[in-house]
Amino acid sequence: MPFPIHRMRRLRASEPIRSLVRETRLDPAEFILPLFACPGEGVRREIGAMPGNFQLSVDEIVRECAEVRALGIGGVILFGLPESKDETASGAYADDGIVQRAIRAIRSQDPSLLIVTDVCNCEYTSHGHCGKIVAGEVDNDQTLEWLAASAVSHARAGADIVAPSDMMDGRVAAIRRELDANGFSRIPILSYAAKFASVFYGPFREAAESTPQFGDRRSYQMDPANGREAMREIELDLEEGADMIMIKPAMPYLDLIHEARRRFDAPIAAYQVSGEFSMIEAAARNGWIDHDRAMIESLTCIRRAGAQIILTYFAKPAARLLA
Ligand code: PBG
Repeated sequence: MPFPIHRMRRLRASEPIRSLVRETRLDPAEFILPLFACPGEGVRREIGAMPGNFQLSVDEIVRECAEVRALGIGGVILFGLPESKDETASGAYADDGIVQRAIRAIRSQDPSLLIVTDVCNCEYTSHGHCGKIVAGEVDNDQTLEWLAASAVSHARAGADIVAPSDMMDGRVAAIRRELDANGFSRIPILSYAAKFASVFYGPFREAAESTPQFGDRRSYQMDPANGREAMREIELDLEEGADMIMIKPAMPYLDLIHEARRRFDAPIAAYQVSGEFSMIEAAARNGWIDHDRAMIESLTCIRRAGAQIILTYFAKPAARLLA
């Protein structure tokens, strides 16, 4: 008969008590802000479905990074919109590619801001798929070369961490091998280990102009129905040499974040993707939900589930609120 001895409400009675017993806290140092680098100068083009997020020319990215630094945000992850796309994704691994130039520009202003790069081909291929097309299919093994070359070019430009998001099999091992062979054995790999073929990437594809021109990504990204398979993906990536792993999207996949936290001791990141962000923004703009509370609650619950690093488009407003 726990009641009336136990009264759970005692520890909820005032904010000082609630604060004392709070199990999960948010720290901006654990946020990573996604940024989209585009050609030109002075370009700051707002993304329709993602208010407060922009396609930024390299000079504007540098300004944005100064703000990221001032807010105490952990770092940025860079995506690129190349001048032109082709069949071989050449912009992904060109030494003067858009992301490579952005890294160098940021580095010249801030030697120690944490720069993560997304390693993928979909923003750079004319067909919008994440790999090389051979006989109408995304060819796994031939795509690995592009990925490894991209990772090395990012490291050479000054990236701190490379994050492959393509979902080809064996990419972590291929990237590790090539990084090491080029003198970058110190560069960690944050693998998008369990990345699902999710409808919640919709707004990102507008932002990164990376919608596949035919078919979809279901032959390489995971089926949202599969949780055990996600654990196998994570296990394999860790075996191949991933230093950290990511689960993506975040909120609809909290069970997998939690399960991964239970099973693996590597740092776990979760990506609160564009659609998760846009839904909250849209509802708030309609007056249907409180923006700041929805933002903080969503981030807190991702953290509580077991993700210590959160990639989020809310990084700036959340950091401001937490300050
Ligand atoms: C590239 C990539 C995507 C996202 C991150 N890296 C798009 C995709 O796989 O289609 C989505 C991020 C987001 O929705 O915020 N492959």
